[in-house]
This record gives sequence, structure tokens and C-alpha cells, in this order.
Amino acid sequence: MLTDRIFFLKETPTTNRVAYDLASKGESAGTAVIAESQAEGRGRLGKVWQSPPGKGLYCSIIVRPRLAVEDYPKITLTAGLAVAIALEEVSGIEMRLKWPNDIYSQGKKCCGILTESCSLTEESDKRFAIVGIGVNVNSEKSDFASELQDKATSLHILTGSDYDVRAVFDHVRRHLFAKLALFESAGFAEILEDWRKRDMLLGKWLQWVSTSGEIIHGRSEGPDDIGRLMVKDKEGKTHQILSGDISLAEKIARKDVP
Ligand code: BTN
Repeated sequence: MLTDRIFFLKETPTTNRVAYDLASKGESAGTAVIAESQAEGRGRLGKVWQSPPGKGLYCSIIVRPRLAVEDYPKITLTAGLAVAIALEEVSGIEMRLKWPNDIYSQGKKCCGILTESCSLTEESDKRFAIVGIGVNVNSEKSDFASELQDKATSLHILTGSDYDVRAVFDHVRRHLFAKLALFESAGFAEILEDWRKRDMLLGKWLQWVSTSGEIIHGRSEGPDDIGRLMVKDKEGKTHQILSGDISLAEKIARKDVP
């Protein structure tokens, strides 16, 4: 059963933590925590998500999809696709996906998602994930830290309009649960096909830091059937990336490009 319960908070360290604690105590799927601002907004890989009041949507949604344990990591890509579609619906502007689930528009980041699962050894009826979504909604360029001003965008910057953050949330939530229901009923293939249509990295030269700390360059071949990013290096070896910070490496010397 899905609830549409929402906890509105004026300020919190991070909505993901609040939602995680609620879900651990049995709170139902569908429940969301929305904060006006976050003091310690968290991004992937230990980064900070700047969360000033009135500028963005900062929400964490509890999901409990009936999926096998091995399918839980695919919630990440599913959420990215759902939120990208929701933001396109709200703004009328095309959104692209940067693996695993950043949302970009016109080459700049508009939304980040941090999905955190409970221990996957939990019994299936207790299993949950928290989908933490940060959308730059009404931010002006000057609202971003100086190092982000050329990398980040917002719905307002993209369209010149102001948005009701609650209305953005409603679109996001509806599409998230629609895509999760599709996953449960029909599997991951259709979601992946749609995801690949919005893949902003496909065919691009990338660099990333391997688990052993080495910087590797390669060309993106997009996500494989279970959502890992496939990258072919210049020796022709394909790497399957599970997680990490992927950056575009457009400026690699031409001699490195086969
Ligand atoms: C990223 O881009 O690395 C992910 C950013 C996720 C930010 C959202 S804001 C709501 C939720 N609470 C958090 O602390 N993080 C997520």
C-alpha cells in the first residue's frame, strides 16, 4: 500500500536520514520528507548538496518495491529516469541523464539523486530504499557556489519562470511510483531502453578513478543490462563500472582516441 504522507520540515541536516529512520521503524512506501533547507545536504560519494531555503526541492521518498535483492541497485537508474521525465513535464525542457542518475539540461546539472537502501539481507517485507532528490528549482546563477556557477542550472534559469516547489514534488513522486510499478510488473528492460534514449555520456570519452585509485580513460558504451556503465578503454578492454565519479574527458589528446 502506498501512502501520500508528507513530513514537511523547515530545516534538517538531511532528509535522507529522517526518511531512513522512519522507514526503519516501519513507515510505509510513499511517505516523503520535504525540507525547506538542509544544513548537511548529502550528495553521492561524500559530496555536499547545497540546500538554501526557497530555491530547491529537497525531498526523500520511501520506496518498498517488490523486487528481488539483486534488482535493488536498479532503483537508482529507475529513479533518474522518472525524475527526468517529471522535470521535462514541469518545465517543457529536455533533460538528459548522466550515469548513474544525475539530471542535466543544456550541459549543466539540474538535479542529483542519492538512493540509499537498507541492508539487503533484510526480509523482503521489511526491505526499503530511500530516494533522495535534490532539484535546483528557483535558483539564480548567483545562488550557486562560485565553483558551480558554470556547472549547475535550475528550472528557473532554463525557462525564466518561477515554480511552486510542492508542484514539482507532486510530478516527481507520481512518475517515480509509475516507473517503479512498471519495473515490478514488466521488468527492467523498458526502463533501460528509455534511459538509454536520454544518456548524455553515450559515445563520449570519460575518465574515472578505478577502485584501485588509477585514473582510467575510455569511451562510454552506456549502461549494460543490469545498469553498470560499460566503458571501453583505448586498448579495447571493456570496464564495467559499478559506482564512481565519472567526468567527461573531451580534452584528451587526439592521439589517444582510436
Ligand atoms: C548528488 O548529486 O550527488 C546527489 C544529490 C542528492 C541531494 C538530495 S537533496 C534531498 C536528499 N537529502 C540529501 O541529503 N541528499 C538528497
